[in-house]
Amino acid sequence: MATTAFDVDAARARFSALARPLAFFDGPGGTQCPDEVIDAIAAYLRESNANVGAPYDTSRRTDELVELAHERAADFLGCSSAEVAFGPSMTALNFLLTRALARTLRPGDEIVVTALDHDANVAPWLEIAHDMDITVRVARLTDDLELDYAGLESQLSERTRVVGFPVAANSVGTAPDIRRVVELAHEAGALAWADAVHYAPHGPIDVAAWDVDVLICSPYKFFGPHMGLASGRAELLRSWRPYKVRAAPDEPVGHRFELGTLQHELLAGFVACVDYLDSISWDAIQAHERALGERFLAGLPDHLELYGLTGMDRRVPTFCFNVPGRSPEEVATFLAQHDLAVWHGNYYALETMRHLGLDGTVRVGIVHYNTEEEVDRLLATLAELT
Ligand SMILES: Cc1ncc(COP(=O)(O)O)c(C=O)c1O
Repeated sequence: MATTAFDVDAARARFSALARPLAFFDGPGGTQCPDEVIDAIAAYLRESNANVGAPYDTSRRTDELVELAHERAADFLGCSSAEVAFGPSMTALNFLLTRALARTLRPGDEIVVTALDHDANVAPWLEIAHDMDITVRVARLTDDLELDYAGLESQLSERTRVVGFPVAANSVGTAPDIRRVVELAHEAGALAWADAVHYAPHGPIDVAAWDVDVLICSPYKFFGPHMGLASGRAELLRSWRPYKVRAAPDEPVGHRFELGTLQHELLAGFVACVDYLDSISWDAIQAHERALGERFLAGLPDHLELYGLTGMDRRVPTFCFNVPGRSPEEVATFLAQHDLAVWHGNYYALETMRHLGLDGTVRVGIVHYNTEEEVDRLLATLAELT
């Protein structure tokens, strides 16, 4: 049963992977898994390993697992289980879904994405533009690295077929106003196409309440195994001609976009991951993350250059910065030598980096299993870098 108080030590005790000196501030690149996820993967392979659809015990169990995983994904995303599709990664699912949609595009159609997007929600559209006569527009950012909503609105027209956007930016942490973006998209008669990969470990997803048409995320960013997960509005999915083998079932409709045999052991891990998150309340996770984010921002040495919002409103606790005079790689390597795991680079957020005029930055990502002590250790180590 979910409670509102968050006990970080109790949560960490469920992750053997955290029992080491290294502090993981690399959640935006992938989070650690609680032991229950790891155990579920191993247990599937030991006890239930089979393909689907045969009349013997392990195959029947696999049928049940596949159904359960779709149901639990639907609970997690706020859609129906028929609208769920699992795949190898968000990127693979997005190329697949955008290709299916592309079959309905006409010359002169337009797609709008944002300068906050990861390239996995930009490049698939650019590849379609490479193959057919459509235009991809990029909605610009404000100085605070928020979406410029007026600018976005001015990019939309009756030619716009899709508005692609991140629920939170994996580079600088900005969390756009989803309802506002969705309303703008729908008013223009376009689909709202959400990349929830970076947001998913930080808060509840509600496809129905947000009214998004397509939403894609990656369980390995929210304490689950390496795989992708998509949701698409049933009538929309049904209206596309999928790229699939003829013998594979057409219903439930989401299955049309699951190519070949699913990663059954990872589905078992996925179910355990959703159960893990259900055992902790999002309110508690968000309060803990916000407190850690505020602590990080308050203690950030003055000589560091932070990019984006300087408070914890309208963002998740993912921070991009540089240390003047030092390359991002040099900073990340120094931190690694002090048992602090951070990333450096462009995070495939090419349009954000273009906006900033940078090749890369250092990135610190905080998730619920991080502690005050880890944040303080990170800040003290950063202060040594003058
Ligand atoms: C915001 C965002 N979108 C998409 C992706 C791509 O996800 P995947 O690795 O599942 O293809 C990432 C990966 O870092 C991401 O952070």
